[in-house]
Order: sequence, then structure tokens, then C-alpha cells
Amino acid sequence: MSARLFTPRALARNKAPVLDFLAPLTLTPRTTLPQRPRRRHQSTTPHSPSNPHAPTPSSAASSNLAPPTNAATAATNPPNPTKPIHELTPSQRGFLSSALRVNQTGELAAILIYAAQSPQLVRSHPHLRPLMKHMYDQEAGHYKFFNEVIRKHRIRPTAMTPVWTAAASVLGWGTAFLGREAAMACTEAVETEIGTHYNEQVRVLLDWAGKCEARGETLGPELESLIGELRRIRDEELEHLDHAVENDAKEARPYELLTETIRAGCRGAIWVSERV
Ligand SMILES: [Fe+2]
Ligand SMILES: [Fe+2]
Repeated sequence: MSARLFTPRALARNKAPVLDFLAPLTLTPRTTLPQRPRRRHQSTTPHSPSNPHAPTPSSAASSNLAPPTNAATAATNPPNPTKPIHELTPSQRGFLSSALRVNQTGELAAILIYAAQSPQLVRSHPHLRPLMKHMYDQEAGHYKFFNEVIRKHRIRPTAMTPVWTAAASVLGWGTAFLGREAAMACTEAVETEIGTHYNEQVRVLLDWAGKCEARGETLGPELESLIGELRRIRDEELEHLDHAVENDAKEARPYELLTETIRAGCRGAIWVSERV
């Protein structure tokens, strides 16, 4: 586990696929767009409903938001004759921006919690080393994914990042100082809240997809791929929760006070990060 994993240079090496659903608003300043009637366009990428997580293009021309920017783009990307792709409303864009901002800072906090807990826990309980590394590595993957997404779409990180960074490190160090059970109770509390948070995002996106379907539209391969990523990450968070319970999280004392305090803190951090 190394902080070098999260340096800008290290992140730049990460070539994980990045979605492009907000690109038209961010890659091209609105003031420079040619003034012409907006129109929906169709996907330029073959997309099978049976494989919604297939690799998707990252060009703005393929986004469910982006009108073709020139004739060459349109010529090289013939429209898909299937369902039209839904154009996100401003409120939908706002929801995605807030959610992805929270996801990015939440994953950073998770990394810092595990990084602060691991030295103390592994020193006292060497058998926990593989588990702590496993969970840390998964959090690192989550952070890289959301970090790339918000950088690509120029979603601003929360202004509270320095505060959450300090709070997460203190939380990780403090719970590990209290002992293995308290450290695991911290994981249980955090993962309960973050799992709920990801579930809510999946629910909203599936609701959008259902309404699109009813209108004869599709949400588009990029957002469908995002749903898949959110489900995968949510499942990994819930796996961490299970590991924490298996490792005596509920034996922490005082369990209720500790977990309810941490959960309230997580909910507060999510609420603030959505707005600030
Ligand atoms: Fe995570
Ligand atoms: Fe996690």
C-alpha cells in the first residue's frame, strides 16, 4: 500500500475506461458551440442489450448528450438505426455531477481509513494483512475509476476534500488504536452507508432507464455501463461489510455508539459533498 498509487503521475497511467456522458457540457465551452437547433442523435456504437457492459467509445460524438460537431464526425460515425438515446435533463446532469463528486471523495476517504488502520492492525494481528490489502486495493480501484470520471468531465471535487482527508485518517487511526473490533466496526458502519449511497444511484439510473424504455428511447451504452460499474463497486463495498462482521465488528465496545456516530458522520459528509 503506497501513497504513490495516488500521485497525479500514477493516476495518469491508469487507462481504465472512462464514460463520456457529461462531455458535451465540459469538453467544449457552451459559448463556442455553433448556434443551431438541438437535435437528438443516435448511438454510433453497436450495443447489444444482452451485453450492456461492452466497451464503449469515449469520443464526444458517441455520448448521449453530444450533437455531432462536424460533418466528418457524422460521416465516420453512422447513426445507429435502433432506439434514440435519451438526452439528459439539467436536473439529471446535476444529479450525476453530485453523485460522482461524492463517490470520488468517498473512495479517497476509504483509502485513507484503511491506510491509517493497516499498520496498527497488521502489527497486532498479522493474519489480517491479506484482508486489509485486499480491501485497500479494491478501494484504490474505485478511487481511480471515479477520479478519472470526474477529471474527464470536469466535475469539480468537493471543496471539503482537505477536511475529509484529515477526518478519514483520524478515524482510521483512532479506531485501529481502539482495537481490531473497533476498526472492523468502523468498516461495517462506513460500508453500510456507502453501500446505501451506491444503491440509491443504481435505483435512480434504473428508473431513468425504465422511463426511457417506455418512451422508446435508451439511456445509452455509457450510462448503462455506469450502472454496471456502480453495481460492481457497491457489491465490493458490501463484501467489505461482510468481512468486517466476520472479523468481530459487533464485538466492539461501545458498538452502538461507535457505529451510529460513524454512520451519522458519513451521512453528513455525503450531504455536504453533494452541495459543496
Ligand atoms: Fe470503495
Ligand atoms: Fe469499501
